[in-house]
Amino acid sequence: MDTTNTTVVTRTIREVFAMPSDAQVEIRPQAHPLVPRNNPHFTFAKESLRKLLMWVAGALAEPGLWVSGPTGAGKSSLIEQFSSRLNIPVFRVPCTGRTTLDDLLGGMQISQARGMHWVDGPIIAAMRIGGVLLLDEWDLVSPSESTGLNTILDGAPVLIKSTGEYVVAHPDFRVAATGNTFGWSDASHAGYRAVQKQNLASLDRFASLSVTYLDEATEIVVLTKTVPDVAPIAEQMVQIANKVRGDFISGVGTEKLSNVISTRGLIRWARATVAFSAVAALDTSFVAAIEGLRFALLDKWPKHEAEAVLTAYEAITGTKVRR
Ligand SMILES: Nc1ncnc2c1ncn2[C@@H]1O[C@H](COP(=O)(O)OP(=O)(O)OP(=O)(O)O)[C@@H](O)[C@H]1O
Ligand SMILES: [Mg+2]
Repeated sequence: MDTTNTTVVTRTIREVFAMPSDAQVEIRPQAHPLVPRNNPHFTFAKESLRKLLMWVAGALAEPGLWVSGPTGAGKSSLIEQFSSRLNIPVFRVPCTGRTTLDDLLGGMQISQARGMHWVDGPIIAAMRIGGVLLLDEWDLVSPSESTGLNTILDGAPVLIKSTGEYVVAHPDFRVAATGNTFGWSDASHAGYRAVQKQNLASLDRFASLSVTYLDEATEIVVLTKTVPDVAPIAEQMVQIANKVRGDFISGVGTEKLSNVISTRGLIRWARATVAFSAVAALDTSFVAAIEGLRFALLDKWPKHEAEAVLTAYEAITGTKVRR
């Protein structure tokens, strides 16, 4: 399907992203099946939105954007939700240490109807229609493979060796690589296993966008909108998550945590709390928020780290936790 911008619709940033600006943005007219589903509770940080709008408008004259930040902070969803608002199809690829460039380009397949034929992989498919290629965990990929993307990031046509076809990228084609590092093997935490130091020439082809956890006020709003039933305790939940994040990122000695409560984990905790509330009445000593915290997060953490979170819970909520 072609999603070229023949009859582009324009709307204000206020209408599309719920941000205070009357600047116009272009929205593609056709809904492609790979346009991500809208999450109405997604909240855009002003700085990220500004950079994404420049990137998609072609202001950088290069397609590549590297999005880095801690787990569950909202990197993949930022690209998806931004694209969703503008009706841009996203070709999302989960990458691993075994991902190869050839896999991403496509391959020959055999079928009764067509015999041997070429099938586009995500790179070629996104290039043809001007979609966003979202390469998740791109810093896990072997540098010898990731460097193969260089000519594509330069905007050059790509040769499909099996068919001899040169594919020229649509002007709206974009590449977003996400990772917990910026490819320097600079993981701020040893828990980000298997990241690989990337080739300098490859890194040089990306603009960069840092995503951090939401500020307290915004995260309370996101949590309350996503799981309205936790509204009365949302502020305390976010404060506990922020205490854990502080100890995860910059704790020292025994206070250094190897686990973190991400926005993803916080939402899971909220959902578990609501689900447990339905059965809380069966046992008067049962506190849904604590059981939700254990079920959603702590039961898989080392005991001393779970204990540190429960101590923070007691300090912030004033509720004694039954051990
Ligand atoms: N700005 C935000 N507004 C609303 N929800 C958010 C926001 N950021 C993150 N979330 C929530 O957190 C979840 C996790 O985000 P996401 O998967 O994008 O994280 P990530 O940074 O890509 O993590 P990872 O490094 O583990 O891949 C999202 O599905 C969404 O529910
Ligand atoms: Mg991600």
